[in-house]
Formats: sequence, C-alpha cells, structure tokens
Amino acid sequence: MPEKKITLSVSVNGVAHTATVEPRMLLSDFLRHELGLTGTHVGCEHGVCGACTVILDGRSARSCLTLAVQAEGVEIETVEGQGSVDRLGRIQEAFRQHHALQCGFCTPGFIMAITDMLRHHPLESDEQIREALSGNICRCTGYEHIVNAVRELARERGPLT
Ligand code: FES
Ligand code: FES
Repeated sequence: MPEKKITLSVSVNGVAHTATVEPRMLLSDFLRHELGLTGTHVGCEHGVCGACTVILDGRSARSCLTLAVQAEGVEIETVEGQGSVDRLGRIQEAFRQHHALQCGFCTPGFIMAITDMLRHHPLESDEQIREALSGNICRCTGYEHIVNAVRELARERGPLT
C-alpha cells in the first residue's frame, strides 16, 4: 500500500516552501529534488562525510540523516543562501582566496559547517579549528588551505552568538 504523503512547510534561506512528501524522504533529497537546491551534495549517505551539511534552526546538521518531515517549521540554511557566482559570500571568498577547494564536492558541506563554527565556537587555535572541521571529509586538499581560510575568518568575525 502506498505511504500516505505528508504536507511539509519549511523556510529555506528565508523563502517559504510548502510541499507534499513521502514520510521516508530524506531532507537532502527534498532540497535537491523537490526544491532544486543541488548545492547540498550527497556523498556517503550515512552521516560520515559531511558533504550534505545544512543548518537547521541555527545549528549544522546532516541532511542525509534527517527526514524531510523532521524539518517541519524549521528555518533551513543551505549553501545557496551564502552567495552566488557573481557575489560570493565571505566564507566562499575566503575559500577562493586561500585555494581551499579543488574538485569542490565537499565544499558546500564545509561552508555550512564553518558557518555554524563561526557563530558558536571560539576557534582560538589551529587545533580547535581542526577539531571543529573534523566532521567533514575532503579527499583533495589535505585540509591545510581550509584551515588557513577558517583562521582568517575566525580572526575577523564579531562576537559569538
Ligand atoms: S552525505 Fe551526509 S554525511 Fe555524507
Ligand atoms: S575539494 Fe575535492 S573533496 Fe574536497
């Protein structure tokens, strides 16, 4: 018997969306396939790589481990809310300046995780930065350039929230 669909209302990057979804649909699939927000990448699909990281009500989360229906009423932030090709957001610009990406597959997840880190974590040393980044995997860069970008961002940010 087909599963009963559920009506879901969310805000994504400040835009309200309402859709009818299967109860088992993942948030990553909802963002990519229902809303067309393909900046959220899917790598491992089981919570290990961090490529699918988004922000839910202010804190980073794995969208591959979250059901879309769990996001009912939630404010979702994705990498599309950070900037555009013509107008990069600050974190994107720091990645560009520090050569912190190569293939770019991991990059949206890093950018969203770093958004959370900059809001909530002290990041006073490279050790703290590396610890904070440890939930995201990059197969290309060796991490050094990502750490350099985050160090610069941590130095210039305002008070923690
Ligand atoms: S795709 Fe979600 S953690 Fe890897
Ligand atoms: S830049 Fe290729 S996986 Fe990170």
